[in-house]
Amino acid sequence: MFKLQLTDAQDAIARALSDRMAVLGSDRVAEGMRYATAGGKRLRGFLVLEAARLTGGSARGAMQAACAVECIHAYSLVHDDLPCMDDDDLRRGLPTVHRKWDDATAVLVGDALQSFAFELLADPATGDADQRADLVLTLARASGPQGMVLGQAQDIAAETADRPLTLDQITELQANKTGALLEWPVVAGAILGRADPSPLRRYARAVGLAFQIADDILDVEGDAEKAGKALRKDAEAGKATFVSLLGLDGAKARARALIDEAIDALDAFGPDAETLRDLARFVIARDQ
Ligand code: IPE
Ligand code: IPE
Ligand code: MG
Ligand code: MG
Ligand code: MG
Repeated sequence: MFKLQLTDAQDAIARALSDRMAVLGSDRVAEGMRYATAGGKRLRGFLVLEAARLTGGSARGAMQAACAVECIHAYSLVHDDLPCMDDDDLRRGLPTVHRKWDDATAVLVGDALQSFAFELLADPATGDADQRADLVLTLARASGPQGMVLGQAQDIAAETADRPLTLDQITELQANKTGALLEWPVVAGAILGRADPSPLRRYARAVGLAFQIADDILDVEGDAEKAGKALRKDAEAGKATFVSLLGLDGAKARARALIDEAIDALDAFGPDAETLRDLARFVIARDQ
């Protein structure tokens, strides 16, 4: 049931992205944008759709915001894979953008996806003027120098730090690197539904941390073919991760505890929130 819902959302987001990008031409950057936003689990987009549904936000606005966050996420991956960052050749089972084209194209595709995301949010189709301004402000914060970009910088700095990071430091780093972009979708849903974002935010914070712990576990014991990206990179880079700090069993226990916390945060929504509960469980059970 949940897998079916996720697949439906993945297809709907793919169709919406292709529809929104129809205004772009067939130049290399536009083709790169389409390529970079294809595939993926669409967890961030799915979270927007579900949070908006739960709070009564418009489906049209939710799809705009779902496309926007998937564009920002894709941009973060295109840049993350660059030779000056993680230097990866494979993403979602295909050559990374800089391998398929070149570094300059990958930089520009990332830049363009970022601008395009904000264009989608600012579009009148997304909501009224207050909602659009709020969505733009919160996504800028989540993705920029107080959010994802800060986390990426902290991650890179940690590779060459004298001492390995402490658990608190790594938790903060991950909250920025991965957490902010997983939290934004539920905030966006609440903005569209004019609802209090607090319970959903508590849910998303726990899911975000569990998600990154799962990514770190996957890096150690996952199957690269299934994951569609190179694994065993964290230990190679000497990165302090949840696994290096807590051990595999400790990391798994922590991820499970976080999922229980996430599920508890949804109590007030009753049975309506079952899909979000399933999503939380899926995040730590996934193999890709
Ligand atoms: C991968 O994110 C990068 C991290 C933030 C750890 P996802 O695992 O959500 O990637 P896709 O979108 O499904 O490819
Ligand atoms: C990437 O983290 C996070 C962002 C792009 C913001 P990782 O470097 O751990 O992600 P993977 O393992 O390459 O997907
Ligand atoms: Mg990285
Ligand atoms: Mg990487
Ligand atoms: Mg990783």
